[in-house]
Amino acid sequence: MNNTDLTFLKKFASLIAGFVVLSLVLITVAFSVHGRHKGDTRTPEQLAAVQARIAPVSGVYAGASGQMAQAAAEAAAAAAAQAQVAYGGTLDGSVIYGNLCKTCHDTGAGGAPTMTRAAWSDRIAKGTDTLVQHAIDGFQGNTGIMPPRGGNPSLSDDQVRASVEWMLENIN
Ligand code: HEC
Repeated sequence: MNNTDLTFLKKFASLIAGFVVLSLVLITVAFSVHGRHKGDTRTPEQLAAVQARIAPVSGVYAGASGQMAQAAAEAAAAAAAQAQVAYGGTLDGSVIYGNLCKTCHDTGAGGAPTMTRAAWSDRIAKGTDTLVQHAIDGFQGNTGIMPPRGGNPSLSDDQVRASVEWMLENIN
């Protein structure tokens, strides 16, 4: 071997060695970055919000199969509305009342009983469970129509119960 070849081999070998060291460093860095990554830390509510933001605005349906697809999409949308969490899932009756029920029950709109003892004494006699059930299913009495879940299908049974109980405790 002449001198030039030897010099080349030495340089080339150290270059290869340098690359090996560099790969080891990169592998170590990758492992440590991966170890520190906490995965998806978003809450189910945040994920649902993202899905809602990126959902298509509308769909295109044609023909008989299109009609079925459209009906299926509407059913899915209704189910999604029900699966959504109203008012952050709060069980604070005052919050739900303040956001929803009060529009009718503060003003008496549509024949809703206002928060007075006179308007409620006959209703209280039905028992809390019946009142809660009426608030969940909706109720048509002598004065008007109470819409199911106050008109918000996302309210859970527990949330409706919490609002009814809050109402009963706060009647003047
Ligand atoms: C769109 C107006 C409206 C909204 C919103 C509304 N209500 Fe009512 N609610 C009514 C009306 C009207 C009645 C009276 C129905 C009747 O007895 O004729 C009623 C009656 C009730 C009753 C008495 C049922 C009975 O058996 O006598 C309860 C309990 C009740 N509402 C709870 C709620 C709760 C809880 C909310 C909020 C989650 C709410 N309502 C939101 C209109 C409303």
